[in-house]
Amino acid sequence: MLATSVADPHTTESPPMTTHATPTPAARTSSSNPDPGGTKAAALMASKAVSASIDALVEELRRHQSALTGARPATAALQETYESWLARHAEARGKAALYPYVGSGIGNGALVELADGSVKWDMINGIGVHMFGHSDPDMVATALRAAMSDTVMEGNLQFNADSIVFAETLVAEAARGSRLRHCFVTNSGCMANESALKICLQKNHPAPRVIAFADCFMGRSTTMAQIGDSAAGRVGLPLNVLVDYMPFYDPEHGTRSIDYAVWHLRQMIARYPGQYACFVMELVQGEGGFNQAPREYFVALMEVCKEHGIAVWADEVQTFGRTESMFHFQQLDLGAYVDVATIGKMSQACAAIYSEEYNPKPGLLSGTFIGGAVELQVGARVLERMRDGGYYGPDGRNARLQEAFRARAAKLVESHPEWFTPVPHPSGLRRVNTPYFGGVGGMMRLTPFGGDKGMVTKALAAMFEEGVVAFYCGHGPFHVRFLPPVGVMEPDHFDEVFEITERAFARVAAG
Ligand SMILES: Cc1ncc(COP(=O)(O)O)c(C=O)c1O
Repeated sequence: MLATSVADPHTTESPPMTTHATPTPAARTSSSNPDPGGTKAAALMASKAVSASIDALVEELRRHQSALTGARPATAALQETYESWLARHAEARGKAALYPYVGSGIGNGALVELADGSVKWDMINGIGVHMFGHSDPDMVATALRAAMSDTVMEGNLQFNADSIVFAETLVAEAARGSRLRHCFVTNSGCMANESALKICLQKNHPAPRVIAFADCFMGRSTTMAQIGDSAAGRVGLPLNVLVDYMPFYDPEHGTRSIDYAVWHLRQMIARYPGQYACFVMELVQGEGGFNQAPREYFVALMEVCKEHGIAVWADEVQTFGRTESMFHFQQLDLGAYVDVATIGKMSQACAAIYSEEYNPKPGLLSGTFIGGAVELQVGARVLERMRDGGYYGPDGRNARLQEAFRARAAKLVESHPEWFTPVPHPSGLRRVNTPYFGGVGGMMRLTPFGGDKGMVTKALAAMFEEGVVAFYCGHGPFHVRFLPPVGVMEPDHFDEVFEITERAFARVAAG
């Protein structure tokens, strides 16, 4: 646990989150002299007995996880119990799980053990949540300390110092190159988006309309399901959000795509003058297919928004921490335009972050929970490690992982051109500017079998059986999506991942 999370907030010591050192879990507690004049909590956390117990638990974890060194098949003796877990899940939920996945509760970095004894490479991590993969000793040590907090959950009425540490660390990073100054911490990406939408609507009242990109995803609340561009996500829901869609950048159209988008946006604004509260943008579309756009595309649209007082809202729930800067708006140097941003997933706790100008009036944002003590303290530790761990820049860890992925993907495409058939473009054009693999940082996609939904789904099922957990993205074409644990994935881990992927694709191709 971060010493500040339970220390007396009135102490004159500077909080460790502001330093750039990355001490070991035990070192992060000053065990030498628990100040009898401080709080009992600070003394408890500084206790040698606590440090020694946590170190012993983590050591035991290391001993057990060290046996997990590569993918392996299920244990026959566990199969029946495993099937029964899946049946119980289906019964409780009223619906079978998408993947036959039940974790055993231990892993080793990018490797995870399932309850059937199999070990798999986890290339999706709860859809991009576990930055340090499974059973990371430092995350576990942080969680163990957090579990000693007085309550499981912290709320907006009563909170401990750890929620403040999380928020201020996040804001300090968001403020680099932007006007973002404050944040509201909450417990899902969807709630962060709900909060951001309210902020934009309140500030720009009475403008009721929202602009979003085609193929965007925003979460599953009734409002976010309406803005998110997926017909299946809103079946049976009454439609009461006024949302208009913009085409996303299309590399096949190049700069014409930019002119076309600006023209489209101006048309919408002329149609509904003064009625748009915000334009929500995923700067790399996640669920939509890892679609990217050059800076000029966003600048052109953001300039129009600024002209018309429309809030620019960057939904970074999926991109946060994963690209070549902590916020993707920083990689694209778009911070000056951003009024509101939302984050989640790898940060564990989620947040809406906003400029002074967009700071909402009291009463707009609250809720019983901010989050659990474990999620807030592990989240703060993740932010600290993201900030100090060499992840960013063109030569950072995330960029190097992307490079390693692309090298293996290129080899696979070259060795098996028969699996990488042309991907149709909706216009009927032949795609020339869209390679069979791509992405940015820790967002990676591979597009076999013409991006056909049925074939990609079969490929994912075969990969799962062979020992790689991945997922799809896109709405047509469909892609194999990797969100690897960037904190623990090493470039050469992709060797085994691609060997397995190749075996799986071969099975699918053979029918
Ligand atoms: C861009 C984006 N926004 C919002 C969300 C919703 O986040 P959550 O599932 O945590 O509610 C997601 C989830 O995948 C996302 O990718």
